[in-house]
Amino acid sequence: MRYVRPLMDGRGAVRLFCANGSLTMSTPKKLYIKTYGCQMNVYDSERMAEAMGGEGYVQTDTPDDADMILLNTCHIREKAAEKVYSELGRYKGLKAEKPDLKIGVAGCVAQAEGQEIMRRQPMVDLVVGPQSYHRLPQLEAKARAGEKAVDTDFPEEDKFAHLKGRPKAKRGPTAFLTVQEGCDKFCAFCVVPYTRGAEVSRPSQRIMGEARDLVERGVREITLLGQNVNAYHGHEKGLGGLVRELATIDGLERIRFTTSHPNDMDDDLIAAHADCEKLMPYLHLPVQAGSDKILKRMNRSHTAEQYIRLIERLREARPDLHLSGDFIVGFPEETEQDFLDTMALIEEVKYGSAFSFKYSERPGTPAAERPQVPEDEKDDRLRRLQALLGQQQRDLQNAMVGREVSVLFEKKGRLPGQMIGKSEYLHAVHAVVENVEVGELAKVKIVASQSNSLTGELI
Ligand code: SAH
Ligand code: SF4
Ligand code: F3S
Repeated sequence: MRYVRPLMDGRGAVRLFCANGSLTMSTPKKLYIKTYGCQMNVYDSERMAEAMGGEGYVQTDTPDDADMILLNTCHIREKAAEKVYSELGRYKGLKAEKPDLKIGVAGCVAQAEGQEIMRRQPMVDLVVGPQSYHRLPQLEAKARAGEKAVDTDFPEEDKFAHLKGRPKAKRGPTAFLTVQEGCDKFCAFCVVPYTRGAEVSRPSQRIMGEARDLVERGVREITLLGQNVNAYHGHEKGLGGLVRELATIDGLERIRFTTSHPNDMDDDLIAAHADCEKLMPYLHLPVQAGSDKILKRMNRSHTAEQYIRLIERLREARPDLHLSGDFIVGFPEETEQDFLDTMALIEEVKYGSAFSFKYSERPGTPAAERPQVPEDEKDDRLRRLQALLGQQQRDLQNAMVGREVSVLFEKKGRLPGQMIGKSEYLHAVHAVVENVEVGELAKVKIVASQSNSLTGELI
């Protein structure tokens, strides 16, 4: 008997249509995916789960009953990469109990280390890079046949065009949509250009199709993703053009995008912040450092002054814009004065939120070869930087009290009648509400500010 078309029936069983058209039922295999790193990995994990859904897998939220475990990994800092090996170590017992269990490593560690992963952890059956995961079903079949499977190519074909269409199941109100991948910037500290490859943009018609499909399935807010999302050129008018076209989709209420590079912020995209109502007033615009010497050594190709002028233009377009950023402290050769320049830039910009990191040496990148800042110096700078950023975040949150915001409710809270959602500025907002469903937008007055969220009342 030859099975030809596996389909999920939505209750966990797989319907298998035999070649003669008759129908049988079998228990589905279970896939456990653990995702590390950035939002692009979150999106990729969804797509990999969907691809494996076509092979008769359903997702499980525990590794204990899985037939396949897939770690979708991040290589950005040393700690992130090492986490993968300690996680793999935990599965030794499971693998011993269940020899049929297949273990795969996907994502940026897979790309950077390839076959080496199997040398360090022989129980790994499959390694797949971020640009070749459309081939996951074939790799899984190879692993089931007892062979080790590795694919870290940067294939010519567009993986998204080769992935199965997304299933029609109902979705939550927010979704990620990858529009651009890869990076040509080669910041001196960063592995992304090596793990994700060159900048590639997906054609806008495909993105429009995927966005319409998401909206039909209940999505109200889409966050466009790219390692350098504003370098998107799959639309004749760039990312601004894509945002405006997406805004014509009825039922899509909110659009966001991340992560942007200051040098790719063109006039049209800045203007979209003024004239496109669906584009939310929140922008993640990493600068990394405030000292021109360090910016140059980082190969960021802009000065602190140029970044600040850009923020001014963005705020002219959208005065209530909330900004977020990424910062690295202790980059090689960073002096106390360089660090103080970063603090001064932060004082000037005033961020609503930010991510900050100690510089981590990444083998193969130019900065790893340079004189390093001592660890205790890095710790001290990170502490001071985070204190300032934390204070700014609290100040901006406190300033929201008394203001009206619009909230897209995403889930129920723990208290009776409580719902949790996000404001247009990406603040988490709790409110006790009646007759409001998940996926609805409502006007809310902010009445209190907690450390990481706001409390509101329905207007
Ligand atoms: N493309 C995005 C960022 C991708 S990586 C951009 O250019 O902004 C996310 C963040 O990780 C970076 O912004 C940077 O702050 C941090 N990062 C990257 N490499 C790092 C390293 N070697 N050490 C510490 N932080 C790093
Ligand atoms: Fe990394 Fe720089 Fe590219 Fe961002 S722009 S992904 S930090 S190389
Ligand atoms: Fe990490 Fe790769 Fe994203 S290194 S931050 S998962 S692009």
